[in-house]
Amino acid sequence: MPKTGSSAPPAPHKKNNAKPAPAAPAPPKKNSAKSAPAAPARASAKPPAAAPSGSALEIKDTRTGKTYNVPVTDGAIRATELKKIGTSDPDDTGLMSYDPAFLNTASCRSAITFIDGDKGILRYRGYPIEQLAENATFLEVAWLLRHGELPTQQEYDQFVHDITFHTYVHENMRKFLEGFRYDAHPMAMLNSSVAGLAAFYPSARNIFDETERNISIVRLLAKTPTIAAFSYRHVKGLPFVYPDNRLSYVENFLSMIARMSESKYEANPVFARALEILFILHADHEQNCSTSAVRGVGSSHVDPFSAVSAGVAALFGPLHGGANEQVLRMISEIGSVKNVPKFIETVKSGEGGRLMGFGHRVYKSYDPRAKIVKKLADEVFRIVGVDKDLEIALELERIALSDDYFTSRKLYPNVDFYTGLIYRSMSFPTDFFTVLFAIGRMPGWLAQWEEMLLDKEQKISRPRQIYTGLPERPFRSKLK
Ligand code: ACO
Repeated sequence: MPKTGSSAPPAPHKKNNAKPAPAAPAPPKKNSAKSAPAAPARASAKPPAAAPSGSALEIKDTRTGKTYNVPVTDGAIRATELKKIGTSDPDDTGLMSYDPAFLNTASCRSAITFIDGDKGILRYRGYPIEQLAENATFLEVAWLLRHGELPTQQEYDQFVHDITFHTYVHENMRKFLEGFRYDAHPMAMLNSSVAGLAAFYPSARNIFDETERNISIVRLLAKTPTIAAFSYRHVKGLPFVYPDNRLSYVENFLSMIARMSESKYEANPVFARALEILFILHADHEQNCSTSAVRGVGSSHVDPFSAVSAGVAALFGPLHGGANEQVLRMISEIGSVKNVPKFIETVKSGEGGRLMGFGHRVYKSYDPRAKIVKKLADEVFRIVGVDKDLEIALELERIALSDDYFTSRKLYPNVDFYTGLIYRSMSFPTDFFTVLFAIGRMPGWLAQWEEMLLDKEQKISRPRQIYTGLPERPFRSKLK
């Protein structure tokens, strides 16, 4: 049972004065761009190597001797422009760009999150992550990500009210969760349950109806913690705790996780705020693997529950959100500080796998979220005592940051390196860590999904390929 409770007074209901819901807004015109407020100017998000307007890339095709001018906008060329470059071969459909794993291909324009991986900068809608982690609530950030501006008090109160009153799930969803085996991984339960919500809300398929989008977004934000907590209680063999509408978002989640016979659960305010900060840190991270999955699946115009479940599935993987779980497993295998140098050698030789919680596709310096998490760990450990594995983690970081293998590859701790230690000190089981990440990432997935949907340039996501298989051959069955 997580050590999330305390006899200390609960965290104040910061900016959380529930008010009755107003009448539902009138449905907007189909595919109305109005439904997403205008994106704020990209004040801080300078595109790399921005070129003056009218500039172009001159490409000389040595196969034909022809020269092409490809326009450069925002530091990018349009890959479809390359199609114009071709030979006289009738089978040649024009030049393609080849970019496995999207190492250098922008798949969209986005006004939501800005990252400068070299400088270690992360901003949501222009606000530095450090300031949001210090001052904002998670639901304030959720609103900001979707709408582009911080909510007014009235907007915030209404939003909190809407979320609070949609935390219950249909009783059949509870039965669905009860159908899993006792040892089911909570991410597998979360993934299928989020997808399953589509069956409970068929009208969510009207994705170009703003009212439907609003309610689906509220439902996903409100019900994900409930599903997560139910999956936790199911695995533990404990009775499900229903949402308590008197509590804040995070306190209610902790209540559903840890409440036993008390009439009202009182969360430890330090734990509640620490978890809220971790949710904020995870809330969005531009076009990462899970967000790209949500955008890609959503581009088929499926309902948001199905689209977002693709994000949960992607997050489950050990190279993405599953890394927080793997960090703790790795530390426990290392066992002791004295074994760290030997372990680092096995990583460098390739025998010991990767140093989990290290490295990032975008950050080539210290992940700014990891800095905040490290500080947060100190605050939590002050209450629960220092985690026995912290020493090993600190030694891993110390050695890796002074080792040429890691520094030359610009491998630094990422957000997952220390989060697991905090989660475990709150007594969350290791396989629940990625679920906590998913709760935090939900607002980002939803904001990105809606931005994709309302972007007139987007179409169904469908990459090209370079065919490497056999040429045509006649069918000769090998069956007898
Ligand atoms: N430990 C050891 N070596 C590493 C690590 C690591 N954690 N990460 C990368 N490398 C090495 C690679 O072996 C490669 O070396 P090489 O050039 O000699 O072949 C080089 O660094 C570049 O690695 P890539 O795999 O090309 O980097 P990529 O950008 O594709 O991968 C990733 C990024 C997946 C995050 C990677 O660093 C990794 O696997 N890290 C461990 C898992 C992890 O912590 N994931 C969480 C990421 S944060 C998040 O999703 C929330």
